[in-house]
Amino acid sequence: MGCGSATPQQIIHNDELSQRVETNDEWIRTRTGIRQRRVIGENESLIDLASDAARSAIKMAKWDEKSVDLIILATSTPEDLFGSAPKIQSNLGATNAVAFDLTAACSGFLFALVTASQYIFSGSMKRAIVIGADQLSKWVDWDDRKTCVLFGDGAGAVAIEASNGDSGLIGYGLKSDGKRGECLNLSQSNMFSDLVRGFTHQRGGYQPINMEGKEVYKFAVKEVPIILGELLDRYKIESEKLDWLLLHQANQRILDAVAARFSIPSEKVLSNLENYGNTSAATIPLMLDEAVRNERIKSGDLIACSGFGAGLSWGAALFYWQGPH
Ligand code: UT7
Repeated sequence: MGCGSATPQQIIHNDELSQRVETNDEWIRTRTGIRQRRVIGENESLIDLASDAARSAIKMAKWDEKSVDLIILATSTPEDLFGSAPKIQSNLGATNAVAFDLTAACSGFLFALVTASQYIFSGSMKRAIVIGADQLSKWVDWDDRKTCVLFGDGAGAVAIEASNGDSGLIGYGLKSDGKRGECLNLSQSNMFSDLVRGFTHQRGGYQPINMEGKEVYKFAVKEVPIILGELLDRYKIESEKLDWLLLHQANQRILDAVAARFSIPSEKVLSNLENYGNTSAATIPLMLDEAVRNERIKSGDLIACSGFGAGLSWGAALFYWQGPH
């Protein structure tokens, strides 16, 4: 019914990163499609961005915030490990909503969208806000050129509600493979301290993002077409019938490879990663919001969506964009 997004003010161009690591604009652009990314600076916060994105989605949907039943924040970078969603609930004044975080890295938004839809399908809730928001700039090693050029910060949100007619969400598939998790992680640091004599405890803390880029690339170009193809077959939808391909924005080459598998022309492939880089759980709703607001996506458009990333986790969904009544 509605969507929204918010991004930080600071824009870091590729050339600026070459002041810090041995890289250059040409390498980053040709290997990834990224030209710039946004990074949360002073006087900004992920919770504020996520709240702004959710507020815009509620406004577009023309809802009263008190009518929201559920808020799910998909994030791997909460400001509070106990959960950041309740703070967003309070910022929005959505006092009747239950709010919680969900972590599935770059697949997080898709997993949260499907989770929220289950509450709606069961009839227990009517209106939900699903937010994807991440601040990977906190956890990137800014001296590791293999990862630091890829990521950015941002937030996006959608407002979904129960409908009487055909559901907006046609179907979905979700997958996890923990065996392959080592190729992309943000794992805890193994630091132990003395507790009392003879006992130790593990101190909290995380290591920077670690990624085997080539492995993740191969995983994405293999698994995304499989899961999307299964979904299209299940619902007997020809790929020509799709209005838009909306993939997690990690690398333009991945978008192009998946589109080529389904013979989807480039005009139907949504891409804004040149401006934002990989914003993890935020990429899909950020892209959706941009395309809805500049009137590329219109009411009734059929969208094939897929997210993939750490876990490893991946998923796909087919849905019609409705927009507000
Ligand atoms: O959101 C989660 C999902 N994540 C992804 O989907 C990421 C998937 N992976 C990728 O997008 C690509 O693998 C990368 C963009 C991360 C890397 O592209 P690649 O074509 O796989 O490059 P590579 O890692 O094989 O590196 C090629 C060369 C290496 O040099 P040598 O060994 O050939 O001499 C790297 O050291 O490029 C070098 N390199 C760089 N050079 C300049 C790596 N990073 C940089 C850099 N600037 N930033």
